[in-house]
Amino acid sequence: MQTDSSFTFVLFGGTGDLSMRKILPALFEAHRAGGMLADSGKIVAVARHATDRREYIEWVNEHVKPHVSKNGVDETAWASFLERIEFVNIDLGKAEDFVHLRDAIKDLPGIRVFYLATGPSLFVPICHALASVGLNENSRIVLEKPLGYDLKSSNAINDAVGEIFAEEQIYRIDHYLGKEPVQNLLALRFGNALFEPLWRREWVESIQITIAEELGVEARGDFYDNTGALRDMVQNHLLQLLSIVAMEPPHSMDSDSVRDEKLRVLRALKPIDPRDIGKVAVRGQYHSGVIRGTAVPAYATESGVRPDSTTETFVALKVEIENWRWAGVPFFLRTGKRLADRVAEIVVNFRAVPHSALGASALRAGANRLVIRLQPNETIRLYCLAKQPGEGMNLASVHLDLAFDQFFREGQMEAYQRLLLDVINGRLALFVRRDEQEAAWRWVEPILNEWKVSNKPPKPYASGTWGPAASSAMLAQHGTCWLEEEN
Ligand code: BG6
Repeated sequence: MQTDSSFTFVLFGGTGDLSMRKILPALFEAHRAGGMLADSGKIVAVARHATDRREYIEWVNEHVKPHVSKNGVDETAWASFLERIEFVNIDLGKAEDFVHLRDAIKDLPGIRVFYLATGPSLFVPICHALASVGLNENSRIVLEKPLGYDLKSSNAINDAVGEIFAEEQIYRIDHYLGKEPVQNLLALRFGNALFEPLWRREWVESIQITIAEELGVEARGDFYDNTGALRDMVQNHLLQLLSIVAMEPPHSMDSDSVRDEKLRVLRALKPIDPRDIGKVAVRGQYHSGVIRGTAVPAYATESGVRPDSTTETFVALKVEIENWRWAGVPFFLRTGKRLADRVAEIVVNFRAVPHSALGASALRAGANRLVIRLQPNETIRLYCLAKQPGEGMNLASVHLDLAFDQFFREGQMEAYQRLLLDVINGRLALFVRRDEQEAAWRWVEPILNEWKVSNKPPKPYASGTWGPAASSAMLAQHGTCWLEEEN
């Protein structure tokens, strides 16, 4: 597909970690693939840690190149990619410096995209400075998380940004929405008549959504210690996945139809009663342990973390949705750092048959289940019972596989690449609308408050495990267990 949507992509925080690992590599992939970015499109990096374009390009060669194309860099494509890059050195704290930015981009064609890969404290000053030199016209602004610390601070940012940019100019990134299997879940649900009748309380017993990481807090101890897993992963990624799984079929795939339906789910989340918090929420913190044969330290000894920190690095929740489709169906959400495996998946457990003419083995676990794996190896698997070959009627669990990399050998895209192309092309469906973000904060805040008031320390868990035992106990109370516990 050849595009002619010209653009000027202004990257604030041009020498930051996100630019290095995600944004510039994603733009390079789009460039290398050919036809996705207009030839006239330019990338204008804004940073203070380089003095001029030559120095910035050196930085890109040294720091970004190692993060592109796992199978080696196409040198011709890399050289032509660098030609797209311009550089402006301004002090983001000085509004008057933005005149230089305006002068640098005023004659460049196409839509302007301002990508704020900076700390959130700079969002509002940057927006004001852009407006002061008239750069908020004919433009889009991309905001990275964290967008606030709670409802109040997120509203403050949204109000201030909203005074300068209209909502349809604002692209709030949640990179989980750009992952291929999330898109495929929409295709599976709304492109096939098969699943939709089953996608409801009559046929679904429970749903699990897990985002487990092996990594710890890495170099972000300082940030993470003031954030914790609930704000870092649940308020955004997990609730966004939940809303995609649970939403009603939208009228169309246009951005507001999809986001209206997601919003309905977020607004229908059953508020958590503080008195029940011990039953429906588990918070944990990793201690030292071993991951894939390597000893790793406790969270409290990580750099930037307070030694007596009570910040959670693990959360498991039981969530309910108060509507006709889902009333009474538990959604178990879980995320954590330094867990036993790196995996993100959605597990839909369908109900067992009401009566088994085939004997007790037809009621066994491991079947009647759809597993949507987001990472690693993206697959959607439907587990069914089948007769084992040979004598008698012995049943075993088998699966039907949708392994995307085998069906579609080309065209796989990283989340950031897809999302950046959407911004450049003005497609908002995969970005979080303000009202969705507010609804998510509204639901999460009572949990944060209750944890704060009760002042109980998080439950310890050894690195390399699946979190505190209380997480399994919570599911056991509902007669179920996490997927990995079945094997
Ligand atoms: C980010 C969180 O939003 O998502 C990180 O801030 C987390 O703490 C990351 O590690 C996980 O993303 P992915 O795509 O690597 O699963």
